[in-house]
Amino acid sequence: MTQHLTLPRPDDWHLHLRDGAMLDGIAPETARHFARAIIMPNLVPPVVTGAEAEAYRNRIRAATPESFTPLMTLYLTEATDPADVVAAHAAGIITAVKLYPAGATTNSASGVRDFDRVRAVLEAMAEAGIPLLCHGEVTDPEIDIFDREAVFIDRVLDPIRRATPGLRVVMEHITTADAVAYVRSQPEGLGATITTHHLVINRNHILVGGIKPHYYCLPVAKRETHRLALVEAASSGDARFFLGTDSAPHSDAAKESACGCAGCFTATNTMSILAQVFESAGALDKLAAFASQNGPRFYGLPENSATLTLQKSDRPVAYPAKIETGAGPVTVFDPGFPLYWRVLD
Ligand code: NCD
Ligand code: ZN
Repeated sequence: MTQHLTLPRPDDWHLHLRDGAMLDGIAPETARHFARAIIMPNLVPPVVTGAEAEAYRNRIRAATPESFTPLMTLYLTEATDPADVVAAHAAGIITAVKLYPAGATTNSASGVRDFDRVRAVLEAMAEAGIPLLCHGEVTDPEIDIFDREAVFIDRVLDPIRRATPGLRVVMEHITTADAVAYVRSQPEGLGATITTHHLVINRNHILVGGIKPHYYCLPVAKRETHRLALVEAASSGDARFFLGTDSAPHSDAAKESACGCAGCFTATNTMSILAQVFESAGALDKLAAFASQNGPRFYGLPENSATLTLQKSDRPVAYPAKIETGAGPVTVFDPGFPLYWRVLD
């Protein structure tokens, strides 16, 4: 008997669409399956004002069908004007503000070094109900890369939340059991996104048998116990955990390099991979909560009325190994196992 699974159309609560030829090449991969996405502002230069977010939104709309809604974010800097943030939100231009500790990841040089300098912005956001999305890694060179998320919780996230009561916060692309436990320990106002690839790979996948640049992303995948904690959280139905793919395209030339860029490109096959991961966890019935319901609930938005149907096939589903773009080919994330769930168009 053919198995089908129909969900409210999913949303992606953390996505990199880039700009120019890369945007044109990869945006359709997300728009094919997702209704809305939170768009990361780490362009070069970053999207820091409401006017820049509006202009970027127009470029995304030109590259995507009308069925797709980009939800814009501003890149928090020490010079961000609280009044501009509040006005952009009130005008419906932005949905959230993104915090990158300076130097944490791709294009984050303009991020925050001194958290006291953004206190007024955070207070204005708490007042206006604008969520803060955190790249949860410290950048202190003394801290081992595999410990940077856990240290961020103690040194940055928890102090920000204590100092700014009422601020809604999303801990983005969590990779550790520590982050899962911290989110669970908080009574309200804190959610977390989990990526597709962190549900699939651990650090061995990156490093054993030769270095695999297409599995390198930030935060870097951790050991297997952490991956299992993420699968448990994502498939638990707990409304605080929702999908943010962090699909982050870089050209093959930029990835396959002596200093390769961080980012996994999963937009093309995310829904097939997730169905497989949730099925293996015995939790297919929780996929709708994770991909389609918990995110809108956190953001106070309605669930999508459109749907998406997955069909299980007997034979592995084909998907392109690369997406050709005007900015060069982009390798699609390889989960390392065949996929049997196909999205019906
Ligand atoms: C992202 C990118 O390439 O912009 N890379 C990544 O590894 N996730 C930046 C980010 O979200 O950290
Ligand atoms: Zn990201």
